[in-house]
Amino acid sequence: MANTILVGAQWGDEGKGKIIDVLTERADIVVRTQGGNNAGHTVFIGKQKYVLHLVPSGILRKRKTCVIGNGVVIDPLGLVEEIDGLRKLGIKTDGNLFISETAHLVFPYHREMDAQREILKGKNKIGTTKRGIGPAYGDKAARTGLRVVDLVNSSRFETLLRQKIKENNEILKAFGAQPLSFQNVHAAYRAAGDRLKPFVTNTVVLLHEAMQQQKEILFEGAQGTFLDIDHGTYPFVTSSNTTAGGACTGSGVPPHRMDRVVGVMKAYTTRVGEGPLPSESAEIADLLHAMGREFGATTGRARRCGWFDAVATRQATMVNGIDELAITNIDGLDSLETIKACVGYRVGTTRYDYVPNDIEALSKCQPVYVEFPGWQTATDKARRWKELPAKARSYLKAIAELTGARLAIASVGPAREQTIFV
Ligand code: GDP
Ligand code: IMO
Ligand code: MG
Repeated sequence: MANTILVGAQWGDEGKGKIIDVLTERADIVVRTQGGNNAGHTVFIGKQKYVLHLVPSGILRKRKTCVIGNGVVIDPLGLVEEIDGLRKLGIKTDGNLFISETAHLVFPYHREMDAQREILKGKNKIGTTKRGIGPAYGDKAARTGLRVVDLVNSSRFETLLRQKIKENNEILKAFGAQPLSFQNVHAAYRAAGDRLKPFVTNTVVLLHEAMQQQKEILFEGAQGTFLDIDHGTYPFVTSSNTTAGGACTGSGVPPHRMDRVVGVMKAYTTRVGEGPLPSESAEIADLLHAMGREFGATTGRARRCGWFDAVATRQATMVNGIDELAITNIDGLDSLETIKACVGYRVGTTRYDYVPNDIEALSKCQPVYVEFPGWQTATDKARRWKELPAKARSYLKAIAELTGARLAIASVGPAREQTIFV
C-alpha cells in the first residue's frame, strides 16, 4: 500500500495533471488538498484535451474515487461549470466525486478584491489568476470565511452571506468598485449549493475508511514549491501550502501514512505571473512560444521561460522530501545545440547555493550555468529509457542528480503513452 504525494517542484505547470493521470492507473483515490480554480491541469486522452481546475485529474479514469479536500477553496459556480463540462465530454462524476464539508468557499467579492488589490499594487502586482484565491484564504485565516457546510444549510447560508455582502460592499465602494447584489449572489450560490449537495461529505472519514481497506491514495498537488505561501518567493506566491505538508493538512491524512513524494519538474523552467525567475531566458522563451507551447491552462497568459534551475529544484527536494522525480517536456529541448542548467546564483561576489529569502536579493541573482550538449533528435517517439538519445539521458541524469532525487519518470509528450518509466 503506497500513499503518494505529488507536488510541483518549480513554479507550477510542471505537467502534474499528465503525471497524475498516468499514476492514477495504479491508485484508488485521487485527492486535491489545496489551491482552487487558479490551478489548470492538462490531460490528453487520445486527441481529447481536458483541463481540470478543481476536480482531481483522476476523474478521467473509470472507477476511481476523487476527493476535493478540506484545504481547497471552492468557487461553487466554477465547480458546477466544471462538472457540467466534464459530463458533456462523457466523464461521470456522480458517485465518484466527493467534496469536503469543511472546504472554504470563494465568492464574487473575493474575485473583485483580488482584482482591485492588483490594480492598487500597480507595477508591483503579483500577476494573480484573479480567481479570488488570496482573499478567500485570507477570510479562512481570519476565521470569517464561509464553508461548504454553510452552503448546504440554506437558512444559515442566507444569514451569513447577507452579512458578508454588506461588509464587503463597504470595502468595494472604498475601492471605487461596483457593490454586489445580495439577491443575485444568493440565488446563484443557492442553485450551485443544491447541485453540489449530493457530493458533499466528511472526506476525512471517507479517506480513513479507505485506508483501513488498504486503498491507495494519490495526493494531487496544485501550483508549485516556489508558489508556496511559506516556502515560495513571497509575496509572489499563491495563498496555500503547495508543498508536501499541505497534502496532510488539506486532507486530514497524517504524515506517517504518507509513503512517498513524487516531484514533477519540467526539463526547463517556467513561471506565469510576476516575481523573480533567475534563469529566465529570451532564447528558450522564443523557442517554446514559437512552437505554440507554454501558454497558461487557466488564464491563457504566455508563461515566462528559462533554463533548468537546479538551485530551486534542490531546495524543492529538501522542503518536500521528494523521493522520486518525474521530468516532463523533455521534447521541448529537442532542437537545441547547447542546453544550460543553473547550478548557483551570484550577486556581485556573493554566491548562493539556495534560494535567498529576501526577494530583493533574489531579484538581483545572476545564474551560474553549466552547459550540456543538445541531442538535436526528436524524443517524442521514445517509449523506453534506452530509446532516448544518449545525450538526453546524460542531461536528465545530471539534472536529477543536481536535484537530489531518483529519476523515476521521463515524459516526452503530453499523451499518456509518451511516458517512460526509468
Ligand atoms: P500542471 O498545472 O502542472 O498540470 O501543468 P499544465 O497542464 O498547466 O501545463 C503543462 C503543459 O505541458 C500541458 O499543456 C501539458 O499537456 C504539457 N505536457 C506535459 N508533459 C509534457 C511533455 O512531456 N511534453 C510536452 N510536449 N508537453 C507536455
Ligand atoms: P497549477 O496547479 C502556475 C500563480 C499566478 C500568480 C500567483 C498567485 O496549474 O500549476 P493566485 O491566483 O494563486 O493568487 O496567483 O500564483 N499561479 C500559478 N502558476 N500554475 C498554477 O497552478 C498557478 N496557480 C497560481 O500566476 O503568479
Ligand atoms: Mg497548470
